Amino acid sequence: MDQGNNSRVTEFVLYSLPGPRELQLFYFTFFTLLYLFTLLGNFLIVLTVLSEPALQTPMYFLLSNLSFIDACLSTFATPKMIVNFLTEHKTISFAGCMAQIFFQHALVGTEMMLLVAMAYDRYVAICRPLQYAVIMSIHKCIGLVVGSWLIGVLHSVSQLVFTVNLPFCGPNKVDNFFCDLLLVIELACTDTYMLEILMLSDSGLLAMISFVLLLISYMVILVTVQHRSSEGMTKARATLTAHFTVVTLFFGPCIFIYAWPFNNFPVDKVLSIFYSVFTPLLNPLIYTLRNKEVISAMQKLRTRKISS
Ligand SMILES: *[C@@H]1O[C@H](CO)[C@@H](O)[C@H](O)[C@H]1NC(C)=O
Repeated sequence: MDQGNNSRVTEFVLYSLPGPRELQLFYFTFFTLLYLFTLLGNFLIVLTVLSEPALQTPMYFLLSNLSFIDACLSTFATPKMIVNFLTEHKTISFAGCMAQIFFQHALVGTEMMLLVAMAYDRYVAICRPLQYAVIMSIHKCIGLVVGSWLIGVLHSVSQLVFTVNLPFCGPNKVDNFFCDLLLVIELACTDTYMLEILMLSDSGLLAMISFVLLLISYMVILVTVQHRSSEGMTKARATLTAHFTVVTLFFGPCIFIYAWPFNNFPVDKVLSIFYSVFTPLLNPLIYTLRNKEVISAMQKLRTRKISS
């Protein structure tokens, strides 16, 4: 695929798991099932929240928005990866590669902001219960959702404008299952060191700010919960544990990937899979399996479906 020095790269080659045909078929089936399961789980949550009047509260609106993003997050790269298990040439067009970069950063940025919004919602509910209805109005809730998307998209665009115009003149092997921003930038035929640092700080700053905000709000909530021991606090604690698990699962891989970006550890690839395939699946499992209200709403939904 080596082209002349002046020609422009029109497609990139993605990494795929090695192995004989039978193994590829196994990967294909395994990841297809996981993917379908993820879509089903997340859309079930969105459907349940939007159709059950008892769940029409800010907390569940934010949760269903999170599920919607998870469904998108599992879609920006996984189908391509799945198809690549069966194809000989594991290529992706230039535009497709840029689209993957855009969606990855927009969705991850938005999800981070949404997790912060959810923590804020729990902070108000637990630490200011009497003013909850006033502070978390439906307008505030919509504002938080729109704001999260705005920050996510702006963050992504700010990185993409620098990337699309780079001179790609030959090397086109991306050493991952999808077009990872830093790996793609490294392929450009120019000194990209400063750009890499810039991108890294851009993503890192966003992640760091949301992580610190999350830590602070959960610490304040935990301290508040400690000093009370009513029945409602037991429920609050269960919700908090679910939130905390999701946040840990989300930021854990992120921090790993971005803390060691210049090493070519295979750990990078393992984490990329974890984070684009498993995390979107885990969120609905964590929230629904631990949440009686969601489970009973889903049962109601099913009975309604059967009787109609
Ligand atoms: C997202 O949140 C907004 C604002 O609360 C809500 O109106 C909307 O229905 C939610 N969307 C989804 C897909 O859950």
